[in-house]
Amino acid sequence: MKKLILAAASIAALALVGPASAQSPIIIKFSHVVAPNTPKGLATEKFKELAEKYTAGKVKVEVYPNSQLYKDKEELEALQLGAVQMLAPSNAKFGPIGVKEFEVFDLPYILPDLKTLRKVTDGPLGAKLLKLLDSKGMTGLAYWDNGFKVMTANKKLVTPADYKGLKFRIQSSKVLEAQMRALGVIPQVMAFSEVYQALQTGVVDGQENSWSNIYTQKMHEVQKHITVTNHGYIGYVVVVNKKFWDGLPEDIRGQLDKAMKEATAYGNGQSQKENDDAFAEVKKSGKSEILTLTPDQDAAMRKAMEPVYKDVASRVGQPLIDEFLKETRGATN
Ligand code: LMR
Repeated sequence: MKKLILAAASIAALALVGPASAQSPIIIKFSHVVAPNTPKGLATEKFKELAEKYTAGKVKVEVYPNSQLYKDKEELEALQLGAVQMLAPSNAKFGPIGVKEFEVFDLPYILPDLKTLRKVTDGPLGAKLLKLLDSKGMTGLAYWDNGFKVMTANKKLVTPADYKGLKFRIQSSKVLEAQMRALGVIPQVMAFSEVYQALQTGVVDGQENSWSNIYTQKMHEVQKHITVTNHGYIGYVVVVNKKFWDGLPEDIRGQLDKAMKEATAYGNGQSQKENDDAFAEVKKSGKSEILTLTPDQDAAMRKAMEPVYKDVASRVGQPLIDEFLKETRGATN
């Protein structure tokens, strides 16, 4: 795969410096792993629309959804090599390229709601985290929301004990791994594009995801039960290849920045509705039983996952966790 990415990268480089006339548009390949009708898919389309409008066609954004070009980890490598210019991977996916700090967003129950999340992403902590990406050959441009995660399985999951011994697909985050282990689950890292089949064939017993991802991947058709745990958050960091970005004419970069700001506001204003709609569709389908937890059951889940904070402190960094909690703790909605 690396060879393929490298070949694509050199073609992309040639296209940038090659015999292009002044009229040839600058191409931004934007790759992502989810369906177009998801919070990320819609924000990407909005960015394309605005970027092409504000640059009067000097920039063309090619969107490749559904892991069409690259799967999870390959996607980030492809960006570093310049085979694609833009991505929006989830916070959970930056660990393998050495930026484990974004895994702080994966801590169980760290965010009471999306309003509180904004305090982090729009404030100094959000900016500081984006800066960490510079040394990895990428520039962090924005935070995009998906939403809160629920648990799916072929078994009714109500108490922490129900999870024991099950195999769950997780994203490539050590915090998610620790979270699953705290529940007695055997975690298995797997690319997003492979989850449906793994659930269907029983390679894994369950997984966690947002409603929009569950619905658009049809996971509810191969999982008998979904428990509304809202135990964690899935969000994205929009990243662009740094060399590409720094090499753009200043006026174009300014127009793209403006397009990104507006696409972000649009997407984040829309994400809750996308997930609510997906929830309604899953419910309507009747294919999966939706289970809600009583306050006592919810408290038991929180308690079971509490040790995760200690387990991952040395990896994610206790000062970072503290800084994050300072913003989120005591927040009211
Ligand atoms: C997942 O891999 O489950 C999600 O991060 C996919 C996505 O990008 O929403």
